[in-house]
Amino acid sequence: MLAKDNAPLHTVDLIRKKRDGGALNAREIEFLVAGAASESIPLEQLSAWLMAAWLNGLTLDETRALTLAMRDSGEKFSSSGLGKKAVDKHSTGGVGDKTSFLVAPVVAACGVAVPMISGRALGHTGGTLDKLEAIPGYRTALTLKEFEAVLDLCGASIVSQTPALVPADRVLYALRDRTGTVENPGLICASILSKKLAAGLDALVLDVKTGSGAFLRKREDAEYLAALMVTTAEAAGTRTVALLTDMGQPLGRTAGNWIEVVECVELMRGDWPERSEDLRELSLRLAGWMIHLGGKADTPEKGYWAATGALADGSALRVFLEMVKAQGGEVAVFDDLKGFHKPGATRVLEAWQKGFVAEWDVTDLGWAVQRLGAGREKAGEPVDPHAGIEFHVKRGERVEKGQPLATLYATAPDLLAEPVELIKKATVIAEYPPEAVPLVSHIFARENAEAYLRDAIR
Ligand code: URA
Repeated sequence: MLAKDNAPLHTVDLIRKKRDGGALNAREIEFLVAGAASESIPLEQLSAWLMAAWLNGLTLDETRALTLAMRDSGEKFSSSGLGKKAVDKHSTGGVGDKTSFLVAPVVAACGVAVPMISGRALGHTGGTLDKLEAIPGYRTALTLKEFEAVLDLCGASIVSQTPALVPADRVLYALRDRTGTVENPGLICASILSKKLAAGLDALVLDVKTGSGAFLRKREDAEYLAALMVTTAEAAGTRTVALLTDMGQPLGRTAGNWIEVVECVELMRGDWPERSEDLRELSLRLAGWMIHLGGKADTPEKGYWAATGALADGSALRVFLEMVKAQGGEVAVFDDLKGFHKPGATRVLEAWQKGFVAEWDVTDLGWAVQRLGAGREKAGEPVDPHAGIEFHVKRGERVEKGQPLATLYATAPDLLAEPVELIKKATVIAEYPPEAVPLVSHIFARENAEAYLRDAIR
């Protein structure tokens, strides 16, 4: 037994084992994760293992071992010196999903620290870090000391994985983006939770997307992911809840980089247009839970009202601007939100018939955003801060032929044609309005998540 435990490991054997439907043990997974973090395993081998894992799935034990190994792949942040509870949120990824820019300052303004380690654009979805870096000067790759200093000063800080902080996710995340290995519950669970558990949180709120723009579109797959993440984080000692939320239309009215930051700053300044209402409501629901779990409200509902106050009275905006400044960002750009926006090319897409906007394939809308220049084709490429789409209608709205549906902002004119076709293909204009879909359809906490998982596995 001992000899077997100490036997040398070879990456190719682990790839073959996974390829043939086997399950890796914790030691084998730790070996792969250490090789990813130190960049000593070549990317082609990591890619092959990722694809084998994607095709054959990860067992519960593999998922948990992967999560913990990735969490432990670098330095960890300890929130104990902050003198208050630390709570964060993370979304499984969507289009126009910019709640972090509202939630982090709102929750910090209510007295709960938000140490947030985020990601870049992944597949068809935008990345919090790419959006923040649209603010000139904003630095996402902070040292642990700098991260702590910003948290001390502002109560919230949004940073990236680095060679020191969850380095395994830094490598695997970028690789999954390029190898078509994103949409797998075990890989998503380990990627998200490794970042969150490395941030030394007291509690975590997960926003698990379901619908045509989610990585796991089907409701039962999203429920499984939510239950998997809640039980995995709880087993690692972090109080966690997951909200199952609608991604059947882009959240708010923008999807891109700078334009998403603008939509949030406008909300924090008190400008609440109807088409941003889902963004505002979801951000307040997530913030309400975080404030509750952070001990500053007896119930999530009371947390929601505290969050509403922080958004309305300007305190969230103050925290946001302080955080941007503390991370090197130029806050002067917020003096002229529209003036700073300089896309290389613009096109307004009009409705080709009258009717109701009945359905959207939001994944295709996401690819349209990426191909306008907001995302990258190759790892490490710069993204265009000005690229994106502003939507002039929400699902269920009635449109007349010729009415503007969306304005597209591209890096260059030749990048407009493919996204225009993608949006046309993705949009169903029908005679009748669609049924209303609830923004938050279910909440998982430890007990119902454990029961769900037991049933799902049986
Ligand atoms: N967000 C992450 O951080 N990782 C994923 O795999 C999906 C969403």
